Amino acid sequence: AILHVILSGGVGSRLWPVSRKSMPKQYIPMFGDKSLFQLTAERNKDFVDSAVVVGNKDNYLLSQADLIRAGVHRYSEIIEAAPRNTAAAIAFAAFDLNPDDVILVTPSDHIITNEEAYANAINEAVSLAQRGYVVTFGIIPSKPETGYGYIEYKGNEVISFREKPNLSTAELFIEQGNFLWNSGMFCFQAGVYLEELKGFEPEIYETSLNTWEARNGAFLPETETMQIPSVSVDYAVMERSSRIKVVQATFGWSDLGSFESIWEHWEQQGEVHRFKQNNCVVGSTKHVEFLGVSNLMLVETPDAILVLDKSNSQDVKKIYERLEKEI
Ligand code: GDD
Ligand code: MG
Repeated sequence: AILHVILSGGVGSRLWPVSRKSMPKQYIPMFGDKSLFQLTAERNKDFVDSAVVVGNKDNYLLSQADLIRAGVHRYSEIIEAAPRNTAAAIAFAAFDLNPDDVILVTPSDHIITNEEAYANAINEAVSLAQRGYVVTFGIIPSKPETGYGYIEYKGNEVISFREKPNLSTAELFIEQGNFLWNSGMFCFQAGVYLEELKGFEPEIYETSLNTWEARNGAFLPETETMQIPSVSVDYAVMERSSRIKVVQATFGWSDLGSFESIWEHWEQQGEVHRFKQNNCVVGSTKHVEFLGVSNLMLVETPDAILVLDKSNSQDVKKIYERLEKEI
């Protein structure tokens, strides 16, 4: 069988105040009346037999509602007691499957355009996965972004995988020209993933398995969960696997992780009404003007306003973390 594993652990803290713990960004209907989660489920449903959502106790009902809206009726949920990062989250899904089941792992918060190119990439990835490879999807990079993984490649071959390099290294990669961004989507057989994880990170494998075995229905237990080392799949498996292949994406891809990426998305979509004097951007239903300032963004929700310098968009997370402690 082919399964769509949807990772939905994040709260989108870099998009506060739009994204909240009670309503993380992936569930906000920001595209017409659809959320990124719903669009993710819709986009993949025809390629797979069923979906598995790995999320948490604060959002599993939101996932259910969006799956139904997406017309996905065959799904299961795995509800984490605490987030222990993606190496473990994917393992939970894999434990539940047959070793030769193919898993398509995707985040729930990306924008993807060009359905036909997407379908081609998925088909190519599934056939590589069926031959035992660990497949990544590579995006042609547009700048030395340090928040992504980089794939050094030649055709489908992966020469090396480098998660989140520093700026000078990222600049070097862009200059070299034979690197792709890792999209954060993966495709492999459940058994292949678990073998790789067990080989490279036996402790994550064992503690995740313990947690999985102690589950209560869809709910994973907290005590066992807290034993799991928090490591992402990129560091745990992708940087080390020798079975890795890449499918180069010709589809449009955007990770709406920060206000800067939303800014760029609006720019690409030609939403000129949002762009004001001196390259300032507004996300508000009110009439806003800027004077004597530049590169600012104003974001308004019914109960909060955020004004930030574009270059600080990664630090919005710090506001979120501070508020979480105060409230
Ligand atoms: N269920 C669950 N549990 N999901 C999780 C957890 C967890 O503990 N941690 C993260 N996720 C989900 C997030 O919600 C997101 O959908 C996805 O897994 C990836 O996690 P991020 O935290 O967003 O990772 P990242 O953006 O730093 O990096 C990854 O994505 C980049 C592209 O967007 C990496 O794969 C990079 O290599 C990649 O370039
Ligand atoms: Mg991300």
